[in-house]
Amino acid sequence: MRVVFLSPSYPPEMQQYTRGLAEVGAEVYGVGDQPASSLPRSLRGHLKDWLQVPRLMDEADVIERVSHWLRGREIDRVLANWEPLVILAAKLRERWGVPGMSVDTVRGFRDKQLMKERVKAAGLRVPRSERVRNDHEARAAAERIGFPLVIKPIAGAGSADTYRVESMAELDTALAKMRGVTEASCEEYITGEEFTFDTVCINGRPAYENIASYLPKPLEARSNEWISPVIITVRDMYQARLKPGVELARNVLTALHMGDGFTHMEWFLTPKGEAVFGEIGCRPGGAHLVDQMNYTGDIDLFREWARVAVHGRFEASTERKYNAAIVFKRALGQGRITRIDGLGAWLRACGPWVVEEQLLRPGTHRRDWKQTLLSDGHVLVRHPDWDEAHRMAFMAATDITMHAGG
Ligand SMILES: Nc1ncnc2c1ncn2[C@@H]1O[C@H](COP(=O)(O)OP(=O)(O)O)[C@@H](O)[C@H]1O
Ligand SMILES: [Mg+2]
Repeated sequence: MRVVFLSPSYPPEMQQYTRGLAEVGAEVYGVGDQPASSLPRSLRGHLKDWLQVPRLMDEADVIERVSHWLRGREIDRVLANWEPLVILAAKLRERWGVPGMSVDTVRGFRDKQLMKERVKAAGLRVPRSERVRNDHEARAAAERIGFPLVIKPIAGAGSADTYRVESMAELDTALAKMRGVTEASCEEYITGEEFTFDTVCINGRPAYENIASYLPKPLEARSNEWISPVIITVRDMYQARLKPGVELARNVLTALHMGDGFTHMEWFLTPKGEAVFGEIGCRPGGAHLVDQMNYTGDIDLFREWARVAVHGRFEASTERKYNAAIVFKRALGQGRITRIDGLGAWLRACGPWVVEEQLLRPGTHRRDWKQTLLSDGHVLVRHPDWDEAHRMAFMAATDITMHAGG
């Protein structure tokens, strides 16, 4: 099997998917913007060949270069697990007649207005929303939708340029900050808890399912630096309270004609117990969500995704053993990390339930918490009992503090 995998080195977890592909017997042809010589050695061992392109986001240019590079070789799959490249992968598949989701299908997972229109057409609950291209359209949409509302880029990520607004005046303030955004989605604000619904699908049917709880919802986590965002996979994901979400999510996959691979959906559970669609991508969640899923069931979804993508089979256990909680920390102050307080006590208190501790060490420069949910590092802890996992996660959120300065 010859597999073209776009950007196997970045974001860093792509190296794990590349490993998975190699482990299930694929010959991996990697395409990225780094020189081959700067690729990690561990990654190089999993690649059959490598093409460096000058601009990975320039679709027309990449299509020309990759087609030229692979001329005369039969390609079986073209895959991408990073959001900005899913359309490019579909374009390459269409150009070469390789099986997999079409460009039109993938657009339903990429364009936030189109996805809601398609999901709504299937009779499922989505926020009322409109596509807007300028301030005038945004104000007109706001008149129809009402406040509070959310305005966000049509093809955004990581809550960037996303605003909750309560009035026309606040909308104008938000629009002024969104100058670089050419198309936006203006939508009804949905009150409630926010969850993920993640799958590995075979022909649109989940071979694997996961729900994780956002504490708090991503927009709040990205709006307040003092928050330590917590995300916990829900071991008991088929409990009655979450059933509407499971049903909604499965129907969304059918409505959008999902094929093979990962999906990452977000949805809201309203105080009345109704599930409302948020958004969906045909790729895995980032920020270590796949690691959390792996810790939930002691499995390797990097490899199982590859097995599905290449052979159409999923062989891991779907038994859920733990609630796996990740806690992202943000240091107080600017510049370099100077010290971490409370870590030793937290590690001792949680003992064997801690599975990862990856806080940035003193001396390291802080990350930009608005740019990356990874913030200044994370701890990951798991427990079979929800309340215990939740307690240990929030202990890390409140009792571990990181400091920076100078
Ligand atoms: N209609 C909505 N109602 C309430 N909150 C929303 C709505 N749309 C987005 N949000 C909040 O903004 C966050 C980011 O929006 P989302 O559509 O998920 O874009 P991104 O691609 O940036 O993740 C969501 O996780 C949620 O917290
Ligand atoms: Mg989102």
